Amino acid sequence: MEPIRLVDLEPDLGDFRADVIAGLSKERKTLPCKYLYDELGSKIFDAICEAPDYYPTRTELRIMRDNMREIAELVGPQAVIIEPGSGSGLKTQVLLEGLEEPAAYVPVEISREHLINSANQIAAEHPELEVLPVCADFTQPYDAPEPTREWRRRLVYFPGSTIGNFFRSGAADFLGKARKLMGENGAILIGVDLKKDPKLLKAAYNDSGGVTADFNLNYLRRINNELDADFDLDAFHHEGRHNEEEGRIEMHLVSDRDQSVTIGGERFEFRKGESIWTESSHKYTLEGFAELASGVGLEVELVWTDERRMFSLQYLVAKA
Ligand code: AVI
Repeated sequence: MEPIRLVDLEPDLGDFRADVIAGLSKERKTLPCKYLYDELGSKIFDAICEAPDYYPTRTELRIMRDNMREIAELVGPQAVIIEPGSGSGLKTQVLLEGLEEPAAYVPVEISREHLINSANQIAAEHPELEVLPVCADFTQPYDAPEPTREWRRRLVYFPGSTIGNFFRSGAADFLGKARKLMGENGAILIGVDLKKDPKLLKAAYNDSGGVTADFNLNYLRRINNELDADFDLDAFHHEGRHNEEEGRIEMHLVSDRDQSVTIGGERFEFRKGESIWTESSHKYTLEGFAELASGVGLEVELVWTDERRMFSLQYLVAKA
């Protein structure tokens, strides 16, 4: 098997440090969610996807399996699949196996280790497929590598409701970039989590096995390891809060006492009960999402949901 070609645009330690210092220097402390995914964070995230309380992954997988034939008909043969933020690849496997002769697969992922592992795995399982990984922060500009073989259409695959992790303006911006990436005859296949009973949402982001808590606290572990910091992981706890007004779940790391933390020689004070806001997960109505897409010249051609309307998978094309 030929070694895979890797385009490497991984953000460096300087970017990470600057983002952490900037976020913790704000009146309302925040940290960008993209850094949750170091090697361990990506593994813990995979475990979240299997947690019984976390409904999105299994629901979306079921929607994919139930509708793969129709999806394949819409996409057609010899597509180039571009996957920003490619995860563990289970849904991707279903897609690649269900599509007609896909030409190439371009996973785009911030965690180099995770990217290389999943790209190698997919290349081994699909020797007929050209696998062209790009190590990059997919919110920043990057070019999709050009496959050597013939292809007919680009499909930007963005499952998992990762779109929900952007604020609305960021979500519109991402969709606008995806529209450019897919080209005029391309399409976007996107997973979008739907608004629902807050009890179900809170359970999903405060799972009883404590996996989400582990995922969130790993952020502090990463800062300690990479930025020479001294966060006491036992002095913070995780909270998944429902923000009704904004239609989202927020992940917070709450300080259990007044304390100070040093990051590379810089000191930060935390009051008891003060939180660091690490992630937001916005939930949509079908109408709300169609409106967002329409704002950047995209049209929802087809939507698939589960029986309980928990989650949606949507096929977007350029507006006529
Ligand atoms: C990746 N993203 C869509 C997940 C979500 O549901 O917002 C990340 C996550 N955070 C906590 N649990 C899962």
